[in-house]
Amino acid sequence: MADYPDFYYPNEDVIKNAHIKDWDSFNSEAMNDPEGFWEKHARELHWFEDWNCVLDESNKPFYKWFKNGKTNIAYNCLDVHMQTYRRNKLALVWEGENGDVLTHSYYSLHRETTKFANILRSLGVKKGDRVTIYMGRIPELMLAMLACAKIGAIHSVVYGGFSVEALHERIEDSESRVLITADGAFQRGKIVPLKEIVDEALKRAATVEHVLVVKRTGQDVYMESGRDMWYHELAALPIAMQNGSHTEIMDSEDPLFILYTSGTTGKPKAILHTHGGYMVGTYTTLKYVFDIKDEDRYWCAADPGWITGHSYIVYGPLLNGATSFMYEGAPNYPYPNRWWQMIEKYGINILYTAPTAIRGLMRFGEAWVNRHDLSSLRLLGSVGEPINPEAWRWYYNVVGKGHCPIMDTWWQTETGNFMITPLPCMPLKPGSGTKPFPGIEMDILDEDGNPVAANQEGYLVIKKPWPAMLRTIYKDPDRLVSQYFSRFPGYYMTGDSARRDEDGYYWIIGRVDDVIKVSGYRLGTAEIESALGSHRDVAESAAIGIPHEIKGNVIYAYVILNNGVVASDSLAEQLKAHVGYEVGPIAKPEKIEFVDSLPKTRSGKIMRRVLKAKAQGLDPGNLSTLED
Ligand code: WT7
Repeated sequence: MADYPDFYYPNEDVIKNAHIKDWDSFNSEAMNDPEGFWEKHARELHWFEDWNCVLDESNKPFYKWFKNGKTNIAYNCLDVHMQTYRRNKLALVWEGENGDVLTHSYYSLHRETTKFANILRSLGVKKGDRVTIYMGRIPELMLAMLACAKIGAIHSVVYGGFSVEALHERIEDSESRVLITADGAFQRGKIVPLKEIVDEALKRAATVEHVLVVKRTGQDVYMESGRDMWYHELAALPIAMQNGSHTEIMDSEDPLFILYTSGTTGKPKAILHTHGGYMVGTYTTLKYVFDIKDEDRYWCAADPGWITGHSYIVYGPLLNGATSFMYEGAPNYPYPNRWWQMIEKYGINILYTAPTAIRGLMRFGEAWVNRHDLSSLRLLGSVGEPINPEAWRWYYNVVGKGHCPIMDTWWQTETGNFMITPLPCMPLKPGSGTKPFPGIEMDILDEDGNPVAANQEGYLVIKKPWPAMLRTIYKDPDRLVSQYFSRFPGYYMTGDSARRDEDGYYWIIGRVDDVIKVSGYRLGTAEIESALGSHRDVAESAAIGIPHEIKGNVIYAYVILNNGVVASDSLAEQLKAHVGYEVGPIAKPEKIEFVDSLPKTRSGKIMRRVLKAKAQGLDPGNLSTLED
């Protein structure tokens, strides 16, 4: 094996201009007084009224941050910049997959958000109402989110790669009356028929009264009269501009959004985040981790439909007054140099993406990268799953030319912001996110809740509350307690296992529950099994994740067919397509295997560990609890 250094030291130029040059002193300041640390950063943002208590712990684990403070995150993203030089600064540079380009200054983003907000108000949307947003990666997605925040509505963004049943379930659970979508989205040269999927989902969901449709692709779509409206037609009406630009004053703890994510069992749960704490957390973490400066062009290549996009495409960058780049389509369309071409064209300084994207582009070889001048890059980032050292080194050497530190950020939908992450001034080890962000206290515990020794694997937990933490599960607060705060009382259980080396660096191993990360996307075995179960030929099924070179994991499904149904390859293909239609293409099983029975415990729980071992030809281990 080649000899690699233990540490990769940051380059001098990066540190010289970084906000934080010395991690240790910054960290000790934060650790000595975490509340003071967060409060200091909260003061860098605008509050209509001050809080009277930074952290209220009187009703654990339902913590409150900046209690009784009044603010609005959208006001801090847009309005505050109207009085400064940032008014005419670019907030967003967007490129469509088909080559369309669109830019927004802070001024125009503010103006268009105001229009959008007025339209939502004219449809009767009020503070506290839920609005579902289902779109591709286009600027209007950002506008729709900000407009909701501005009027105090709670947005529920459903990733555009989800399909009929996933969308239906999320609309129904949130009881949204208004849904915002687009006619379609360009993806890999084809059109994702978003509006068609909406129409199907709405046949199953009864709450939606109005559908706002943004024109993106221009193909013919069905418009139901009285329900569906073109966004551009409403935006041209006087109501869009003549209602002024009133921003709702929100309590620090008022909900900002819900975002559905997969858990251990049952349906996806709606993670709820608030205006105050989430704002302070995303602002502070982005500022220091990606060392955001006014002159930067920052590109987070995630989708706004996931937490990464919420925190680090929409809110974090705008709170910092940054210039962001957004790209609509696939990384390798029409050729594998698309990303590198855009980095050169727009002079991107910071690129934040997922290991699966790196591995996907790596397989095309470095010639595609080397055709472009990537010297504008200063920092790189990774998120979503552990990055394997091989992909790390390729990213570091081929993309970053050996001088751009990689910020490997570990966090979750629930945490709202980065939790384990380097700062640019820290020495790195490929595959480790280094240490918890200053002010965050974490640990690794054994089965009995005792901290494990160095290099031992254990449960990753968060020991103290932090401002951007989830506040509850929408409509199901008991689940917050049972899912996160029961296993190790007082601590937040992440669902990941990890180890910590002798230098105090954390290494994430992976999920210890029934969550599967496919290409960095979070899916639950229950969703896949429920989609399979909705097919008329399926009696029972079990889904598992199997390691995959590019995607991290892929899904295998074991299926028991109904009596009399004959197994065939074409039925397997049909079932894959069925899951794709119901949940989304990302959830399609790679392989379906028909079986007569499933390994279960005596209490009837499927033993996925046994299936996993079988699929990989490994020893299934202890089978004493197996029923049959
Ligand atoms: C799970 C959370 C939060 C951004 C996107 C994912 C895994 C996330 C890393 C990383 C190793 C990671 C964990 C975590 N994960 N980032 N840098 N290294 N694993 O959010 O969809 O809520 O998934 O993603 O398993 O629990 P999410």
